[in-house]
Amino acid sequence: MIQTNYLIIGSGVAGLTFAVKIAEQFPDKKVTIVTKANENESNTKYAQGGIAIVTDTVGDSYQKHIEDTLICGDGLCDESVVEMVITEGPKRLKELIEWGAKFDQNTEGTLDLGKEGGHSENRVVHHKDQTGQEIQRAILNQVHQKENITVLDYHLAIDIITENNRCLGAYVLDQKTKEVITFQSDFIILATGGIGHLYGHTTNPKIATGDGIAMAFRANAVIREMEFIQFHPTALYDSSSGTSFLISEAVRGFGAYLRTKDGHRFMPDYDSRGDLASRDIVSQSIDLELKKTGAPCVYLDCTHLDLDGFKKHFPMIYEHCKSIGIDIAKDWIPVVPAQHYLCGGIVVDKNGKTSVENLFACGECSRTGLHGANRLASNSLLEALVYSDKIYQYLAENSAIENQAIHSVFGWKSAINPEINIDYVTETKAQLQLLMRQNAGIVRNDADLIKAGKKLSFWKKEIEQQIKKHNVNAALYELRNMIAIGDLIVQQSINRNENRGGFVKI
Ligand code: FAD
Ligand code: SIN
Repeated sequence: MIQTNYLIIGSGVAGLTFAVKIAEQFPDKKVTIVTKANENESNTKYAQGGIAIVTDTVGDSYQKHIEDTLICGDGLCDESVVEMVITEGPKRLKELIEWGAKFDQNTEGTLDLGKEGGHSENRVVHHKDQTGQEIQRAILNQVHQKENITVLDYHLAIDIITENNRCLGAYVLDQKTKEVITFQSDFIILATGGIGHLYGHTTNPKIATGDGIAMAFRANAVIREMEFIQFHPTALYDSSSGTSFLISEAVRGFGAYLRTKDGHRFMPDYDSRGDLASRDIVSQSIDLELKKTGAPCVYLDCTHLDLDGFKKHFPMIYEHCKSIGIDIAKDWIPVVPAQHYLCGGIVVDKNGKTSVENLFACGECSRTGLHGANRLASNSLLEALVYSDKIYQYLAENSAIENQAIHSVFGWKSAINPEINIDYVTETKAQLQLLMRQNAGIVRNDADLIKAGKKLSFWKKEIEQQIKKHNVNAALYELRNMIAIGDLIVQQSINRNENRGGFVKI
């Protein structure tokens, strides 16, 4: 058993930011980060567009950002949370800059502000088209300087340990030694990110399997709004399943147009904001166009844009397109919607507390009330920065608790049990991804959802049998989490009777 004061599960922007702050506040306490892949592998690393923050108080205002967020959330945001998050943005940005993160500036030496769908003003602070990577680099650098932080990579959290609705620690699989370690911790912070790989076609990296939400659900934490899956309109079209390269919405903010293969600019037919309507509307419009024409994709036209300006703002996108034979000066980029973000998740209050004592959640795995049915572009990094600070502020005042002994330790299977059949995992995962795309995608109906629910119930039972029979195995435990998340999405979609920004129910 390992004892620590703060156990953080996940090393994206949410987990890392909290770790730095709490470690600085309490240099004598132990802060442990467990993360299931490399320490820098996360959704955070791939964030392109930037962070939505009001920095220009002449042309822009908090009120405008608040209104844009509320409109995008389709009447389901918690207004007091929206106001809290948006007004704290500048402080959190200042902190990131002090930690060494670099953001693009314009020729006047002020921040260069990008625009994305649903924003009425230019307010997206960015580092070229690699904002997430830059933020993660800067925060990890801070983490490495703190002697009281331990980062354990390739450590997969399997379950959190609770007793009488109080969280005491977690079971974690060391994927190199194959040993399950019991962690006892005063406080546990879930910062495990999104769920993209449940859909197969996603902008998310492989780590996004919804583990934190599934663990919290098994521990009886309240989980809400799982039906609000955000599909990004412009993932690079690629007929294979797996992570899709994102073409940032900031490219449309820079002036690119969506077109059908015949060249029709269809977005003005659907929304007066045209190509810069909010993400749910653009994705739904593309979905309709594809169904109407039978085409596999639509196109993003950048050919009229200033090429030097494009290369300066979007060097990674330019190079990636070039590497697969697309010259954006001449060719349109084929794009389709792909799963991108989860708006719901583990319900937290304004201090990031879940309904389980001593258990906190932060970032994409949490449901704060900021996003409602549909997240406004670039509000996610902002939310993670604000809530990691809120949890830190709360625990800076409330960390004096007695260490709770863990009375019962789960009996993990010994090495004599058979290894799992990897084909079972691969095949079930592929079937699950197909089911989620077909029955719980952008457009859903009750009959398909109910069918999906039945299949998921079957898989839920089957995987418990597999778990009982075999050695602890990362792929099997991730699949178990994905099935649990699929079921939450399907059941909460059935329960939602009206159409909302997140999806259309017909
Ligand atoms: P993540 O950054 O995903 O980190 C989760 C961490 O948890 C990872 O380290 C993972 O390995 C770990 N983990 C998961 N399960 C376990 C487990 N069982 N045990 C141990 N560790 C575990 N948002 C914006 O605001 N602006 C943007 O421009 C933007 N662009 C994006 C572009 C792309 C391609 C993608 C995919 C997302 C983008 N987003 C953007 C969304 C944003 O990046 C994420 O919502 C945000 O980074 C989530 O941060 P996080 O810390 O909550 O989770
Ligand atoms: C993008 O750059 O288009 C992604 C922005 C986001 O997800 O907020």
